[in-house]
Amino acid sequence: VQLFWPLHATAVIAHRGLSAQAPENTLLSVQEAAAAGAHLVEVDVQLSADGVPVIFHDETLTRICQRPQGVHEFTYAQLQAFDYGTWFNGQAQSLLSLETLLAYAQQAQLALNLELKAAIQHPAIRWQQALAPLLHQYAHLPLVFSSFDWSLLELCQALWPHYPRAALIENLHADELQKIAAYPCHFAAIHTDWCQLTPDVAHKTRALGWSLATYTCNHPTAIQSLLQAGVQAVFTDDVRLWSRDQPIFPH
Ligand code: G3P
Ligand code: MG
Repeated sequence: VQLFWPLHATAVIAHRGLSAQAPENTLLSVQEAAAAGAHLVEVDVQLSADGVPVIFHDETLTRICQRPQGVHEFTYAQLQAFDYGTWFNGQAQSLLSLETLLAYAQQAQLALNLELKAAIQHPAIRWQQALAPLLHQYAHLPLVFSSFDWSLLELCQALWPHYPRAALIENLHADELQKIAAYPCHFAAIHTDWCQLTPDVAHKTRALGWSLATYTCNHPTAIQSLLQAGVQAVFTDDVRLWSRDQPIFPH
C-alpha cells in the first residue's frame, strides 16, 4: 500500500479515526475510518509510565476515563484496566496500543499518521526505546510522523529518515514559515489549524515547497474553501462526508 499523503494531493485524513461515529483513538474508530475510505488515519501517541506507546489524545484521562492523571502516570497494565468507550456511547472499548494498531494497519493495508504527543514527560531516549522495536517489526508500513514538539521529529529524522515528517503548528503565520524553514529538520508537510489559516499563508506555504494539511474540519463548505485556497489535505472527524470516491478527493 502506498503512502498517499504527503506525496500526493488531495487527501482526506481521519482525525483520531472515525471519531464522529466511534470513540476516538480506539481500534474500532480506526477500523471504521479504514472502512469509510480514509487515505490516512491520524492517531495520537503517548507513552505510559513504563514506556509503552499507547493511542490517546488528552493530557489527562479526565474526559475519557474520569481520572485526573495523565497517561504517563500509569503503567501500561493500569491503563489497560480503564474503559475508553463508555464516555462516548455507553459501550466499553479497550485501550489501543501502538503495537496492536501497527499489526492491524499491516493486515488492513492502512496508512497512518502517528502524532507524537509532547516529549516533556519522557526524554527522547525513552521514545527511541519505545518506537524502535515496533518500527523494526513493522518495517514496511506507510507512516507519516507529526508532532507539535519538533524535537521528536528531529529524533525520527535521525533514526528513521525514510518516514516523512510533518510539522504541527497551531497558528501558521508568514513569520512562522521562516522559523520552520530554519529548523534543523526536514519537513515534507505542515499540518495546521484551519481556523487560523489565510489563503495568503496557504499560498506561501505551498510556494516554499511544503505540502499543506489542515485540522480539524467537519464542515463541507469550509473544506471546499480550504481546497480552493491551496490546502491539499484535510483532517476530519467524519471521513464519510468526504470519501475518496467523491471527486474532490481523487484517488
Ligand atoms: O494531527 C492533527 C491534529 O490531531 C492535531 O491536534 O489536538 O487534535 O491532536 P489534536
Ligand atoms: Mg492529533
